[in-house]
Amino acid sequence: MAEPDGIAGTVDFKHWADEGLKERSFERWKELRAELGRSFDVESGLPSAEDATWRYLTTYEDILDALRDYKRFARGTLQPGIERGMPLIPAELDPPDLGKYRALLLPPFSAAAVREIENNIRQHCRALVERFVDDGHCDFVSQFSTLYPTGVFMDLMGIPQKELPEYARLMEIITRSPLDDSGNQRVILEAEQEVAERVLAIIAERKATPGDDLVSQLIAAKIDGAPMPLHELLSMCMILLRGGLDTVVTQLAHLFAHLAQTPALRQRIVEEPESVPKIVEESLRFHGITVTARRTASDMEVGGCPIREGRRVILPIGAANRDPSKFPDPDRFDPDRRNGHHIAFGAGPHSCIGIHLAKAELRIALEEWHRLIPEYRIENERPLRYFMTDAFVGVEGLKLEWDVTAFAA
Ligand code: HEM
Repeated sequence: MAEPDGIAGTVDFKHWADEGLKERSFERWKELRAELGRSFDVESGLPSAEDATWRYLTTYEDILDALRDYKRFARGTLQPGIERGMPLIPAELDPPDLGKYRALLLPPFSAAAVREIENNIRQHCRALVERFVDDGHCDFVSQFSTLYPTGVFMDLMGIPQKELPEYARLMEIITRSPLDDSGNQRVILEAEQEVAERVLAIIAERKATPGDDLVSQLIAAKIDGAPMPLHELLSMCMILLRGGLDTVVTQLAHLFAHLAQTPALRQRIVEEPESVPKIVEESLRFHGITVTARRTASDMEVGGCPIREGRRVILPIGAANRDPSKFPDPDRFDPDRRNGHHIAFGAGPHSCIGIHLAKAELRIALEEWHRLIPEYRIENERPLRYFMTDAFVGVEGLKLEWDVTAFAA
């Protein structure tokens, strides 16, 4: 067994296999911080010496520092357990190359660009809710939260909507398969491979017949004066699909699960629609879904203890966003809370490119859903369970129900 670097012993914990996270989601980070302190080491179970132990950080300050300081914390893989053999661009690059690729993505995802497509986002959302509003119930993830951002994204990429069910099916596998010893890593990689084959076909098509979609823009773009090779184009499209879809799907499920149990908040959305952006912002803090990672660039001290170069450091954003030293009474959902600066979208050189799109999709979902379905609850008041993937804390099987007659009256 490899020696942990500086922390006395390792802890038996992996976020995707932890029962506490599956039962209590974000509250679990608080327990871990209380039990184990600022940081702790776990045995990863991976054979390579540099990955034999991983360090988890648990405080806002340490996690923010790791996200910002790319000189000390180089880019690890986004997902702790998955080895693809191909870097995700830009997610797994460091400056200065990072900036060149990000510069291509920032304009199509700017606030102004998102405003341009707001009507389209709204149409996607409304059409979906209209499909099941009269049923009085829905499977939230498969009937709404997967299809909605996937449909929006397919328009951006210029992919025909008739392929939506196939993409949604693949995205559900990728976003909902927990990483564990039962081979689900293979399932995820196979689904990603299928998406990659589809994306390659789209790239070939757009090379032959360019359009005004994002894929065509990336094909035409230049890095250091030259077009991107095929593997880079593929990698950019894949990170956009993953970054753009599973995040919003997961965030929506947490937000609506919370609303289904909080009548006062639903009422506020209906009576005071201008408060919707604040509710979205607080959900981003409160439901910090992402778990990301970095690698140490040298021997150093992290989370109060020494660590060697090349070690993976795991950064649970949900722990940072519920740190009481940063957010007073952190487990209270309070849209009027003043000191913001949550790090739901990361921080520093890799901060989220899709922030404006994500916030627009979340805001529009609240507006459109509550216009048609102001009152709803969790089906049979079933207690919530959560699932963990390598990179996200998700909500298990969220089913919502409502009284159709109440709205007709
Ligand atoms: C609620 C929704 C979202 C959340 C919570 C979220 C969260 C994050 C976080 C925490 C990071 C930084 C990861 C790190 O530093 O290791 C990130 C990066 C990224 N996000 Fe998002 N994201 C969301 C939506 C989106 C959307 C809609 C897109 C679509 C374009 C997107 C695209 C990306 C990309 C491309 C990166 C990598 C940036 C880089 O490495 O330079 N995200 N996101």
